[in-house]
Amino acid sequence: MQRLGIYIHWPFCKSKCPYCDFFSRVKKDINQEELVSSYLSDLEYYRSLNDNYTVESIFFGGGTPSLIEPQYIEKLIDKIASLWKCKDDIEISLEANPNTDDGNLFKNLRQAGINRLSLGVQALNENDLKFLGRTHTLAQAYKSTDSVLKYFDNHSIDLIYARPNQKSQDWEKELQNACNFGLKHLSLYQLTIEENTFFAQKGIRPAKEEIAEELYKISDNIIKSFGYNRYEVSNYAQKNFECHHNLGYWEGFDYVGIGNGGIGRIRIADDIYNTFYPREKEVITQTERAEELLIMGLRLTKGINKNLFMKNCGISLDKIIDNQALNVLKKDGYVSENKNNIKVTEKGNFVLNYIINKLVGL
Ligand SMILES: C[S@@+](CC[C@H](N)C(=O)[O-])C[C@H]1O[C@@H](n2cnc3c(N)ncnc32)[C@H](O)[C@@H]1O
Ligand code: SF4
Repeated sequence: MQRLGIYIHWPFCKSKCPYCDFFSRVKKDINQEELVSSYLSDLEYYRSLNDNYTVESIFFGGGTPSLIEPQYIEKLIDKIASLWKCKDDIEISLEANPNTDDGNLFKNLRQAGINRLSLGVQALNENDLKFLGRTHTLAQAYKSTDSVLKYFDNHSIDLIYARPNQKSQDWEKELQNACNFGLKHLSLYQLTIEENTFFAQKGIRPAKEEIAEELYKISDNIIKSFGYNRYEVSNYAQKNFECHHNLGYWEGFDYVGIGNGGIGRIRIADDIYNTFYPREKEVITQTERAEELLIMGLRLTKGINKNLFMKNCGISLDKIIDNQALNVLKKDGYVSENKNNIKVTEKGNFVLNYIINKLVGL
């Protein structure tokens, strides 16, 4: 039995944040019953393609999946449990926006079967929440965080840094406040200005690169002093609280993707397929999959395990890497390698895209 993750994409939000290019739109009056019933039959369809899987994680992402009525969350989880063998300690995550918290949200989600909650807080000061177009106040962000801590044992918040003109002492304060919540996991994303977003149209620029780098270093120091470990470029966790589902993507395990905007990687016979809405699939060549796994694996602090890489894509890492470029990167201190493993160094993290381009020969 192979390990499987299931990703359920909810492509709707209450309001669109000006920085965000995730596949989501603002729509009221969604017929949730109808939509969820199409999700249920899509789950049956993906199960029919390969039944040799054990589900180790489910992830409700978006968009804003905290808009899904808890009764439908429960239905989706029950359906998965009826279709696949599920690991006893399966991780079931959901991304929530404080602007959907009616006071009972987290209690209801816990009762519906969610056991890991990731809250999109983004900033811990009122001005920046406004700048980021968030439609919740700072007080609401705190209230929702308290509630998440009350109902869940496994929790995370997202924060965005390197905002325009962000001062390092302000970010330090915010991050210390975030660490003081006692959450098991934190995701710290550097603000990127994505094409076709409102921020791009307005010509908003993120913090300068040197400042972003300084903020990254500050984050690393503060957060480590609170006992978190960085296990991926933007993700920090207390011991044993890494996101198992996301690790599955980065380590190259298969996943089913449900909903408009959800993609999957599943094996049928000897081939690996990219699957996407609505029930489309195309074969990915071994080389394409290997390149994809290289790009994702280098994001991990522990790097890429060569044996696991070979097992998951059928090609040896040496065959996919530009070995001449690798030697230069090693000499320059950006990458380190031993018999079993290859990884990006602390120094290399600031130029990750450059390293990836060199190694894949782009
Ligand atoms: C799908 S959203 C999370 C949940 C929920 N929709 C919310 O916003 O509260 C995923 C995360 O990606 C991050 N994100 C989205 N666009 C970003 C950007 N342009 N730069 C940096 N982080 C971004 C945000 O931290 C956001 O919480
Ligand atoms: S950040 Fe979250 S709430 Fe905002 S538009 Fe993106 S998915 Fe929706």
